[in-house]
Amino acid sequence: MRIRQHVNPLKSDLLDIADVPRVEAPVGRALEVELGAAEAHFLIDRARQDTASVFVGIEIRRELVEAVNAACAAAGPTNVRSVFANMSVDMGRLFADGSVRRFFLNFPDPWFKSRQHKRRVIGPGLMVEIGRALAPGGELYVQTDIFALALDAMAALEGLAEAGFVNAAGAWTFLRESPYDAKSRRERQCESEGVRVWRLLYRRG
Ligand SMILES: C[S@@+](CC[C@H](N)C(=O)[O-])C[C@H]1O[C@@H](n2cnc3c(N)ncnc32)[C@H](O)[C@@H]1O
Repeated sequence: MRIRQHVNPLKSDLLDIADVPRVEAPVGRALEVELGAAEAHFLIDRARQDTASVFVGIEIRRELVEAVNAACAAAGPTNVRSVFANMSVDMGRLFADGSVRRFFLNFPDPWFKSRQHKRRVIGPGLMVEIGRALAPGGELYVQTDIFALALDAMAALEGLAEAGFVNAAGAWTFLRESPYDAKSRRERQCESEGVRVWRLLYRRG
C-alpha cells in the first residue's frame, strides 16, 4: 500500500470529511487521544500499559488509519483505534465537552516553507478546542524537535487564560523529560539520532 508522506490539511476535500464520528469511551473508561497519530506507536505503548482506558488516534492520512485499525484488529491491543479526521477543523464533531482525559500532540508536521506555515496545526484555535474537550484536571502533552513549533504551542497555551491551562513545569517552562513510558515513531528516531526534543505539559484547571 502506498502511504503519502505529507497531506495538506487545507485541501478542500479534507476540510469537509464525511462521516467524522463522535469519539467516546464506554461509561467508566477514560479516553486518551493522540492528534496526528500516524502509525499510533505511542498509543499502542500506552494501551499495553493501561488496558482499562481507551486510546484513539486522529489521523488525516486515510491509508494509515486503515493500516492501524487492521493491525490492531489482527493482533491487538483491542483498546486502540484510529479515526480519519482533520484536527484543524473537526474537533467540534469529534469530541464532546470535557470528555477526554489526555491529548497528545507528538511531533506535528513542521511545514518549513513560510508559504506553507498556514498548514501548521498548532495555534490558539486548536488549543481552545482541546481545552473545551478536556475533562477538568485533564492533560495536554506536546512534544516536537522544532523549537519554533514548541514556542508557538507555549505562546498559545500561556496566552489562553480563559481555557484554564496550567503549565505543569511552571509558566513558560519546558519539561526536562517525558512523563510517559510510551514513545512515538518520531520520538524514537530523535532519540537514536541525538536530536533534542522540546516537551510541554499543561493541565486544565
Ligand atoms: C510528523 S508526523 C508525527 C506522527 C507521530 N505523532 C509521531 O510522533 O511519530 C505528523 C502526523 O500528523 C498527521 N496530521 C497532519 N495534519 C493533520 C491534521 N490536520 N489532522 C490530523 N492529522 C494530521 C500527519 O499525517 C502525520 O501522520
